[in-house]
Amino acid sequence: MSNLKAKLELSPLGMGGSFYGLNHANFEGETEILAAWETAFALGIRHFDTATGYGDGYSERLLGRFVADKRDQIFLASKANLDDTSSQAIMAAIDASLERLQTDVIDLYYLHWSRTGKDMRPWMTGLETARQQGKIRFVGVSNFSISQMEQLRQVGQIDACQMGYNLLWRFNEHDILPYCAKHDIAVIAYSALAHGILSGRYPRELEFAPNDQRWGIRLFKPDAWAQVFEGVEAFKQLAASENLTLSHLALRWLLHQASVSSVLVGSKNKQQVLENQKALTLEIPDRVFAELSALSDHVIQTIPDDRDLFGYQP
Ligand SMILES: NC(=O)c1ccc[n+]([C@@H]2O[C@H](COP(=O)([O-])OP(=O)(O)OC[C@H]3O[C@@H](n4cnc5c(N)ncnc54)[C@H](OP(=O)(O)O)[C@@H]3O)[C@@H](O)[C@H]2O)c1
Repeated sequence: MSNLKAKLELSPLGMGGSFYGLNHANFEGETEILAAWETAFALGIRHFDTATGYGDGYSERLLGRFVADKRDQIFLASKANLDDTSSQAIMAAIDASLERLQTDVIDLYYLHWSRTGKDMRPWMTGLETARQQGKIRFVGVSNFSISQMEQLRQVGQIDACQMGYNLLWRFNEHDILPYCAKHDIAVIAYSALAHGILSGRYPRELEFAPNDQRWGIRLFKPDAWAQVFEGVEAFKQLAASENLTLSHLALRWLLHQASVSSVLVGSKNKQQVLENQKALTLEIPDRVFAELSALSDHVIQTIPDDRDLFGYQP
């Protein structure tokens, strides 16, 4: 097992830092977020994930303030999403993240999104230089294809791959997960609850305002939602028959996948942190995971594969 995988094992659920953007409509404010993070830390969660793009640096700054008095106890991850694929650009992004996070070293730094058709090897050269300089410990990619990872691996080592993965989004199982296993790349799953869909609270008829950002998520789109809704109803029935909630079952199903090293959850407040962390303590027989996988196998066949949950492919 790689060093990184061993570290991630200590905090199987990680805290997401993306509270601007997709969930902006439900953003409950800084105090609420800090309370959620405090609760997570008190419960033993040590993996905190953010990005330069979350709130245009705001999430990094807030997390920097939060970790300042406990930095050595936190596994800190951030990301940069750049159009400029030069090594100078990624090194400058790392320096800016270090400043916003008020730290000398970031544990895991990701290339947040690839750039289709571009030579991204200079990014990797910059990341390896930053690693040698002690500014980052591990290198990650997020939302990258196999050929894009192959390109980067010509000049450096990828330690982690972050991707959308949940009961309703499993397209990476065919190729990227086996590739990561083969090359000892830790898999970090995001959108574990499929943006809250796997809490089971969305109705058959979605009533978002026309400009609500959730319309941009693949699973909410009109050609997928009816099937997604029916699938969630079936998952809920199974959960209820085992006296479990669907969100607990969904989180544990991900952690049950041998390929996954860590699961990021977007808990937006203290209550959600407490609720989600409970999932770790439940006894769930393997039989239930098998039944859930079978239900999921059926649903995912009806969902169009757009490679990522957002249809964002820069
Ligand atoms: N690398 C990437 O490109 C990428 C992309 C997406 C996310 N991420 C990372 O992964 C993290 C998590 O992603 P995500 O926000 O998409 O994850 P998620 O966990 O699938 O969805 C988060 C939403 O689920 C709802 N929720 C959470 N716990 C709940 C509970 N106990 N009961 C009911 N609803 C609950 C909340 O909805 P409400 O806000 O409506 O309450 C929350 O906004 C992000 O913060 C970020 O760090 C990375």
